[in-house]
Amino acid sequence: MAKAVLGIIGGSGVYDLPGLEDIREMRIDSPWGEPSDVLRVGRIGRTEVAFLPRHGRGHRLSPSDINYRANIDVMKRAGVTDLISVSACGSFKDEYYPGFFVLVDQYVDRTHRRESSFFGRGCVAHVPMAHPVGPLLRQRIADAAVAEKIPFSLNGTLVCIEGPQFSTYAESITYKNLGYDVIGMTAMPEAKLAREAEITYATVAMVTDYDCWHEEHDDVDVASVVAVAHQNARKVAGLIARVARDFPAEHEPCPVGSDRALDGAIMTAPSA
Ligand code: ADE
Repeated sequence: MAKAVLGIIGGSGVYDLPGLEDIREMRIDSPWGEPSDVLRVGRIGRTEVAFLPRHGRGHRLSPSDINYRANIDVMKRAGVTDLISVSACGSFKDEYYPGFFVLVDQYVDRTHRRESSFFGRGCVAHVPMAHPVGPLLRQRIADAAVAEKIPFSLNGTLVCIEGPQFSTYAESITYKNLGYDVIGMTAMPEAKLAREAEITYATVAMVTDYDCWHEEHDDVDVASVVAVAHQNARKVAGLIARVARDFPAEHEPCPVGSDRALDGAIMTAPSA
């Protein structure tokens, strides 16, 4: 079995990883272009951890401008087997209040101007996406959240919009009525690319706002997202540190096959 390496992609408000020790900055070349930043690789307990701030340090990259393929590729080249993506999100449920964490298990992709596959142009592949999140990885995050006394939901559907604008009221009400739980701008195509790279993936969605549907709360703006994300940075760091400390030395085979997604997925004949 492969040695487990835990990757962390930090979203808004999560630009470094307190607790990471023996840090090396790794500038890994990728044929897919420039990743968001250098990869910082180190240890938490005995677990090797690779950290990447999704928007770059200083939050330079808009969701549509992130090179998701390069980010996932450098994680793969660093040996990452399990990847936790941390994202700020808006909530469509009264009970998912700012500061609450949702361990997403489904995504709806409403993005439309992002490169969302490593395949095409001479090599056609279709990986399964029915179960996009690794259940064992998600359960490890849940166990850590219980230990850290962080309020969370063990599942939820995240709709990923293109942005960079927040949603209109009509869009927000529509997503709510469709039963979606949270909204963000970055989980897609990250989750799809992780699957194509055979990396087990999970999202920690940290609620920062009620988008713009809620009569008793202000409509989302950058100030509220940033304020809540900063308030929660310590909680996120504690959660990740605990997951890392308790992580197994060897990658656990994924029950939904995320670590062998390419078995039988490639349609192009080798001679074509
Ligand atoms: N990130 C944080 N809050 C958000 C919202 N309401 N919509 C989209 N992305 C978000």
